[in-house]
Amino acid sequence: MNILVVGGGGREHAIIKKIKENKTVEQIYALPGNGGIAADATCVNIAATDVEKIVDFAIGNNIDYAVVAPDDPLVLGCVDALQAKGISCFGPNKAAAIIEGSKVFSKNLMKKYGIPTAAYEVFDDVDKALEYLETAPIPTVIKADGLALGKGVIIAMTREEAKDAVISIMQDKQFGKSGDNIVIEEFLTGPEVSVLSFTDGNVVVPMISSMDHKRACDNDTGLNTGGMGTVAPNPYYTDNIAEECMQKIFLPTIRAMKAEGRTFKGCLYFGLMLTPNGPKVIEYNCRFGDPETQVVLPLLESDLLTVMQAVTNETLAEIEVKFSNKSACCVIMASRGYPSSYEKGYEITIPTDLLDSTYVAGATLKDGKLLTNGGRVLGVTSVENTLKDAIGASYEKVEKIKFDNRYYRNDIGARALKAGEAK
Ligand code: AMP
Ligand code: GLY
Repeated sequence: MNILVVGGGGREHAIIKKIKENKTVEQIYALPGNGGIAADATCVNIAATDVEKIVDFAIGNNIDYAVVAPDDPLVLGCVDALQAKGISCFGPNKAAAIIEGSKVFSKNLMKKYGIPTAAYEVFDDVDKALEYLETAPIPTVIKADGLALGKGVIIAMTREEAKDAVISIMQDKQFGKSGDNIVIEEFLTGPEVSVLSFTDGNVVVPMISSMDHKRACDNDTGLNTGGMGTVAPNPYYTDNIAEECMQKIFLPTIRAMKAEGRTFKGCLYFGLMLTPNGPKVIEYNCRFGDPETQVVLPLLESDLLTVMQAVTNETLAEIEVKFSNKSACCVIMASRGYPSSYEKGYEITIPTDLLDSTYVAGATLKDGKLLTNGGRVLGVTSVENTLKDAIGASYEKVEKIKFDNRYYRNDIGARALKAGEAK
């Protein structure tokens, strides 16, 4: 089979490595891929958002199956466009991808179907939003409606901060049209859990739970990033909580989407907060998380392509999706300065024996050399019998991967380890 993967980050590298395990796979193309992915797939310089060119490429290269991984092409309707030409795809169509594409949509969906989430108000008028903030409980959370490169959520600890956020999103258009509407919601507390799931619109199969580390610096300080590391499973996510989430969140969500005529097929990501009043949805993503995928897929024992095809064919109920009972840890190696400004173009050296456990996010190939080309450069994953060993193994590998200006957190998994020990 000829496979096409749309995207070019660490998540796509993890998806590609896993798909490669399937014996029927002949060719994998990554659009656009990156310098590191080039070791595992043929990278073609077509942007992940250039839907027209992606479709032309798929037709011209006899693609049998396409995986659309990032949020933007999904929200743009890349899956619809490929399917219209008869190409079988993994990923939600445009109508379903709105669950991530519009926070107003997802909040209203949860309210309508009684799915637990933070209380909220929606605003399309800056003055009304500011007026509401005069008396709103503080801290509060301001969210731009549309996609905002993962930056559209502001936790305001004071009334002033909240007002500044509203003005910069709605008036100064910090995130462009994504900020035409905003959600102002209740500030929740509790441990966060990421649960990715496979769903064919009828059944939902949660993957192993994970924990992201979004802040740039140790002890969860510094700016919010795309994610500095992950561990799986998440020790806060007990079997009882998993069952509660299945009944109150996962199944109601896929049923709600179906009832709305927006059947969701693909990977639905539940960003959850385990609050004192039970698990609540913080956000939905219409895709695999990054860097959650880099710990979740290495623990998947079933064949990924087979599972994906079962999602496409709506036969997910008929197959077994099996995860290992080991633990995984992914440490992101970034360019110093990320997520603000940073330099790039430095040569990366990865010992050959570590290539298998390295997922490259921001690197380019030049004259045969792999050079840094992004804020998050690569992720290093280890799978071991215990979380403690997985963390130790990943940091041992990190020491051996070199590039100038490299930066990483030293405490990925520390919080999970403590929670696990306390159980
Ligand atoms: P996002 O960019 O949507 O992944 O959100 C970024 C982070 O903001 C989440 O991972 C949470 O830590 C935090 N967050 C979002 N909504 C809330 C909320 N209602 N209460 C507390 N924290 C929140
Ligand atoms: N790691 C969170 C995300 O993919 O949005």
